[in-house]
Amino acid sequence: MGKLIINGGKRLQGELSLQGSKNAVLPVMAAAALCTGGNGSASSTGKITLTNCPVISDRFCAGRILSSLGARVTGSGNTCLIDPTYIDNSVIESSLMRSMRSSVIFMGALLGRTGHCTLCYPGGCDLGPRPIDMHLSSLRKMGAVIEDEHGKIECTAPKGLSGCRISLSFPSVGATENIMLAAATAQGETIISNAAREPEICCLADFLRLCGGRISGDGGGRIVISGVEKLTFPEEEEFSIIPDRIAATTYLSAVACTGGELLLTDCNPVHLEAVIPVFEQMGCYVRCFGSSIYIHRRERVKPAETIRTMVYPGFPTDTQAVVMSPLCTASGTTVFVENIFENRYRHTDALCRMGADIRAEGKVAVVTGVKELYGTTADAPDLRGGAAIVCAALGANGTSEIYRTEYIDRGYEDIDGNLRSLGADITRG
Ligand code: EPZ
Repeated sequence: MGKLIINGGKRLQGELSLQGSKNAVLPVMAAAALCTGGNGSASSTGKITLTNCPVISDRFCAGRILSSLGARVTGSGNTCLIDPTYIDNSVIESSLMRSMRSSVIFMGALLGRTGHCTLCYPGGCDLGPRPIDMHLSSLRKMGAVIEDEHGKIECTAPKGLSGCRISLSFPSVGATENIMLAAATAQGETIISNAAREPEICCLADFLRLCGGRISGDGGGRIVISGVEKLTFPEEEEFSIIPDRIAATTYLSAVACTGGELLLTDCNPVHLEAVIPVFEQMGCYVRCFGSSIYIHRRERVKPAETIRTMVYPGFPTDTQAVVMSPLCTASGTTVFVENIFENRYRHTDALCRMGADIRAEGKVAVVTGVKELYGTTADAPDLRGGAAIVCAALGANGTSEIYRTEYIDRGYEDIDGNLRSLGADITRG
């Protein structure tokens, strides 16, 4: 069990290139399982080249799933090479399924490629019950026969998958992705109404289109997919993963916690349009230009207007925890309303131990700013909660030890190295 040791109170300053998106690379890697490889000749290897991939544990878990299916996964650093030609297995062992939430979208890809798959319920951060009912009902509507026996899921598509109209009761990101993957090579047209609009959905659609998929409407609430015979990645191409908007918000929050200034490069500021106004309400100076975001925090943070988490393009639930950290020492009170997950205030215990005044009950958390926070010892409760505790510790008075860093490393590439490069006193224990 890893730990991070932080001696807080150091002002951050510098420039940082933003990592690729965890929530974009995972569905794209699942989509790779849909692709037929080359014809085996030297000139047509069917190899898929993904660039700007974050070096995070979830990416390597997705790589292990692909390898267990028979794909060849290589590459180093921010480049991932996948050869799907020899995929011949459609059973994902439970230890791999349980390692992250995103494993569930291999269901749509494997059904699309092989017509069957065996898996169990996915893992992922404990943010409350994380059902997959919308995934299962949508795939059943497309013709999949799915038996769910006490968590073990057997899927077959005896007559193949057929396109149909699917209206989601909630714009679920994962369910939208699963349907897109299953529909990409299904017979006929699939229309997803009330689809998720996140940038990660558009990234997946871009990848599928590059492979010959026929998809339109992504980014809006209505996605139309016309099934094609097969998907093949043009091996002379490279596909770049979009920047990680949640990691971007995390580094902006770190500066808002410590004071200082940061130039974040290789971002897409459009993806942060719901988040940047909150930093401006805090009194931070924020400017976006091209693919960079500049933030400067001079004085004590001010409170923000009520923050309600919504589906994209609203305020992201994934940024709720990290944005709460700087507001713990604001000169007033900020109210949070968490509308997406039932149990997403698990970071508040540690923040309160640091001296924060937070009253969380149900969907609502009331954060009354205090003068300063103090170092503590805490376990990261989940990925974004752990990042929030890191941000708070950076601005706190004294030393903090944060355990269960494996949660944080699931989604953040070299978080301690990045923060050290900005002047933070942070080391891995
Ligand atoms: C994705 O999770 C992200 N994960 C999450 O990011 C993110 O918080 C979430 O979308 C919302 O934006 C990845 O992309 C890997 P949902 P996902 O399906 O797909 C309910 C992070 O920190 N629901 O949009 O699991 C569900 O319980 C992670 O990077 C059903 O009821 O989210 C939740 O309340 C955390 N039935 C809501 O919908 C279903 O079949 C949103 O879930 C599916 C979902």
